[in-house]
Amino acid sequence: MDVTGKIALVTGGGRGIGRGIGLVLARNGADVVVADLNAENAEAVANEIRALGRESMSVALDVTDSDSTESGVRQALERFGRIDILVNNAGTIGAPGWEARETPSEQDWDFIFEVNVKGIVKVTAAVAPHMKERAYGKIINLASIAGRLGTDRNPPYNVSKAGVISLTQSQAFELAPYNINVNAICPGLLWTPMWERVASRTATSPNPEGRSTREVFEGYVKENTPLGREQTPEDIGNLAAFLASDYSLNITGQAINVSGGFFMN
Ligand SMILES: NC(=O)c1ccc[n+]([C@@H]2O[C@H](COP(=O)([O-])OP(=O)(O)OC[C@H]3O[C@@H](n4cnc5c(N)ncnc54)[C@H](O)[C@@H]3O)[C@@H](O)[C@H]2O)c1
Repeated sequence: MDVTGKIALVTGGGRGIGRGIGLVLARNGADVVVADLNAENAEAVANEIRALGRESMSVALDVTDSDSTESGVRQALERFGRIDILVNNAGTIGAPGWEARETPSEQDWDFIFEVNVKGIVKVTAAVAPHMKERAYGKIINLASIAGRLGTDRNPPYNVSKAGVISLTQSQAFELAPYNINVNAICPGLLWTPMWERVASRTATSPNPEGRSTREVFEGYVKENTPLGREQTPEDIGNLAAFLASDYSLNITGQAINVSGGFFMN
């Protein structure tokens, strides 16, 4: 999984899965641009990466805003001269207040689609021309096992992640002539601030036993995961590093589950 000397940009890199991916890429030799809506978190992760002996910079960036993404990518290019690896990780489970809604609102649909799908389109549009010029690039989109099967829990999120899988295939076709691989990772169940929001969604998850959000999560993992354990940001980072390395030169347009066996397709 050697990515020595490569330059990576990770959106939503300030916490959770994005932080884990950034750290694993750095441990495998990459210098990392940590891009996030939350500049303070991004800078804290950049510091962790520097402590590993790699170069890093943080960039404040909103994937839903073209001006912001273009400016963030420009700053990264000014500092490092190129981007070899783009990880489109920034994502959301719902608009503010989603936890309390029985049925996701139109605002949830729009918000989720803006971040999870159009965000990838915008950041990729800013980065891909530079990869094309150099005829080299690895793009990794964060989908989800939620994109594999519809459920009644959060349709807009499921649809957005099915959209990410489809978008990954389209981007793979479009960018293949330029030697750019595009793949998606479908994480399973990870205890991040995002899943904490899921577990606290009392509107559709009756919780008469008064379990803590962590206990709700652990119950769900136990019920649904053949391997019986939650996934970690490092698990996702390990696949990202493989897809970013030249060990995966002939893999493109794929969506790969890292889910302990939850959904085997
Ligand atoms: N946690 C899970 O179990 C799980 C499972 C499957 C897929 N995923 C996906 O993995 C990715 C990361 O999830 P996570 O659990 O780490 O989420 P998280 O909410 O813990 O972290 C998301 C990060 O993205 C950033 N972000 C959000 N909107 C942004 C925007 N508009 N512009 C820039 N940055 C933005 C946030 O500031 C935060 O740092 C998401 O795409 C998510 O859908 C998560």
